[in-house]
Amino acid sequence: MQEKLILKKDLKEKKEWINIYLDRFLPRKDEYPKDIHKALRHTLFAGGKKLRPYLAIQTYLLFKDDIETIKPVAASLETLHTYTLIHDDLPEIDNDEIRRGKKACHVLYGPDLALMAGDSLLCYSFQILSTCDLPAPLKLKLIKEMAECAGDQGLIAGQYVDIISETKTVPKKTLTFIHHNKTAKLLLLAIRFGALVAKASKDDLARLEKYGEKMGLAFQIIDDILDIEGSAGTLGKSIGKDIEEGKATFPSIYGLYESKEMARKLIDDALKILDYYGEKAETLKTLTEFIYTRKF
Ligand code: IPE
Ligand code: IPE
Ligand code: MG
Ligand code: MG
Ligand code: MG
Repeated sequence: MQEKLILKKDLKEKKEWINIYLDRFLPRKDEYPKDIHKALRHTLFAGGKKLRPYLAIQTYLLFKDDIETIKPVAASLETLHTYTLIHDDLPEIDNDEIRRGKKACHVLYGPDLALMAGDSLLCYSFQILSTCDLPAPLKLKLIKEMAECAGDQGLIAGQYVDIISETKTVPKKTLTFIHHNKTAKLLLLAIRFGALVAKASKDDLARLEKYGEKMGLAFQIIDDILDIEGSAGTLGKSIGKDIEEGKATFPSIYGLYESKEMARKLIDDALKILDYYGEKAETLKTLTEFIYTRKF
């Protein structure tokens, strides 16, 4: 219980830092042409857990004590993530109207502007990385890894196979492909960014990679479960949409009970990997457990 409260407070604090950083980095909402800045700011600051920045920060803190160095890198993950959400909600993709407890970007600003707001956020991710105060070779590595994660061999591949699989019974391998690419890879990237900026060893990177893959897949399985068992108010997005759209999800293929068991096992395995870091990993462990118990 105590750990949960500490996590909540810490997550809130770091979320505030990321919001402040991004607010300063981006154009004001009254800057010409204002609608585009307003649209991207709407979803970016609508709420959200800021989980990807937080994972990068907490991974960095396994090795280092300061926080300033990782801040922009963490922020770049949030602009990328928010772009995926804006596009994911578009009528042509998931056709969702509520995001982060507010109207989805396209509902408020129209699909044309929402498309462009998403594109702009994607560009900001690379702009933030390229202008942050890190050695050039490291920045190039981060930019390359982000591009690989976001493109059609990563996130886009996951999103594409997600939509072409609607209303079909897909093989289990395809379901894992979707979840790994559309979601787990970005969470894993956050872990890698934290470790790379902290100059973690190859062994640490390999260890954390295994952690990230398990935690990342568990995260999307829980997202699928919340679409069935969650409350729209708490989640800040509509529920029951996966069944409505005939999405390939873990519950649709394995059933609810087995999906929960699978997520639990992935989380337990992920927690075991973190044991190696002892007390230093306490917050990351509480966060990992939260990924299983979360209601939003
Ligand atoms: C939602 O991600 C999209 C998925 C990958 C399932 P989050 O649940 O992290 O959304 P926010 O950032 O908190 O709004
Ligand atoms: C999220 O999958 C994947 C991305 C946004 C890339 P979902 O489509 O299940 O996410 P939600 O449920 O709309 O947040
Ligand atoms: Mg989707
Ligand atoms: Mg969706
Ligand atoms: Mg979902």
